[in-house]
Amino acid sequence: MAMLDVSALLERRLSPGYWSLLARVSEAAADAGVRAYLVGGSVRDMLLGSAPAEMDLAIAGGPDDTLDSLAARLGGAVRSASQFGTAMIESSGILFDVVRTRRESYSRPGALPTVEFTSSIEEDLPRRDFTMNAVAVSLDRDSWGALLDPFDGRRDLEAKQVRVLHPRSFVDDPTRILRAARYAARLGFGFEDETARLLTDGLGYLGAVSGDRIRRELERIFAEDRVAAILELAEERGLPRAIHPALTLGGPLAARLGDGAAPSPAALLAALAFHASDAARDGLAQRMRLVSDWAQAVRGVGKVKARFGPLSRAELDASDLYALMADVHDGAAEACALATDDDCIHQRIQRFRRDLRGVRPILDGRDVMALGVPAGSPVGEMLHALLNARLDGLVSSGEDEKRFVRQRLGAASSTPPSHTRHSTATIAADSKYPPIGGHP
Ligand code: CTP
Repeated sequence: MAMLDVSALLERRLSPGYWSLLARVSEAAADAGVRAYLVGGSVRDMLLGSAPAEMDLAIAGGPDDTLDSLAARLGGAVRSASQFGTAMIESSGILFDVVRTRRESYSRPGALPTVEFTSSIEEDLPRRDFTMNAVAVSLDRDSWGALLDPFDGRRDLEAKQVRVLHPRSFVDDPTRILRAARYAARLGFGFEDETARLLTDGLGYLGAVSGDRIRRELERIFAEDRVAAILELAEERGLPRAIHPALTLGGPLAARLGDGAAPSPAALLAALAFHASDAARDGLAQRMRLVSDWAQAVRGVGKVKARFGPLSRAELDASDLYALMADVHDGAAEACALATDDDCIHQRIQRFRRDLRGVRPILDGRDVMALGVPAGSPVGEMLHALLNARLDGLVSSGEDEKRFVRQRLGAASSTPPSHTRHSTATIAADSKYPPIGGHP
């Protein structure tokens, strides 16, 4: 088979650093008696006309310690490695992924593959997900720059379509369904017809995939620039609810993802579970074996939604908003801000997160005691009142705070609670600023 020579493309697309690294890999592989290939996403990106975001290499042949000896020959080091013949190697400040060529088989849908090393790239490419990724470029001295494209990935790149290599692809590895949506929306591609049908047929197998693997794929989706487009495509194809019935993309969520800083992944998952019941969100957390931030964000959504009534009140002082949100996990707060269709609530939660959450009084417990507040619970009450006063803009400087404390101590010892509105001039007691018992 005549092979296309893409050495000029390699030279054009790669930075000088990457280029010379590949030249050294080529030498090192020849010395070690193995063959090296640039493979997968790096080749795809170059064929698409962009510089590859990362370097993926495959090594064919050699004994079990091939990757270690390759790293040593490159004057580099293995940064992380797995027993599955994959490693991250660092050389001259460049980190790249290396795999030993392998065949894979699946004992059941969604299971991790059984790996068997082979010494040929031709046997490795057919295990891959899509035609556009089942491509390699030889780094061999004798065939440097030869493109291996056994499934005609280039044709699909030109036709802008995602195509699986064989009908069982999504059944073997249903995480490829999420990958398909990620690539399609990232690249502005469609699904080849048969692939689209297989994708729909494969949705039922997503339930067989471990929570950890699903979460890793979601993290990759959430980290993409075009996350909104990916989620829209996923929703259109029924992916979220196939992962778990609690998940749907609805309301203004997709539109909001375009604005501002990218949300945390935990918040994004929780936002996708916004419309579900507390029980369903709990089920999702268990299904996906969520821990730490992810679990707290998903499980915290119900608490925030239960406060939507007061959060949408016409009159809401900053201190009221703070009281409603202070005990909420930030991921849950962000999720609700992203997913609610009530703009007022959206604004208020974002205001809390941006402007209020970090507010603290200038004075501390020692300072207020020095001003005459008795030790014990009055100190906490005074600090709380000071915080509210600062949130509501009643104090700004440290002097204001001292004045505030003195006034309240005076008010507590001399006047019964009055219900006039507070001001900087006189801080009267009301429910938000109850008298703080100084002297009985
Ligand atoms: N792969 C696969 N099935 C999966 C995951 C990966 O066949 N479930 C193959 C693909 O051929 C892919 C390669 O392994 O090209 C490396 O995986 P990954 O690093 O996830 O893919 P990239 O194409 O590098 O993805 P990206 O562009 O998002 O970095």
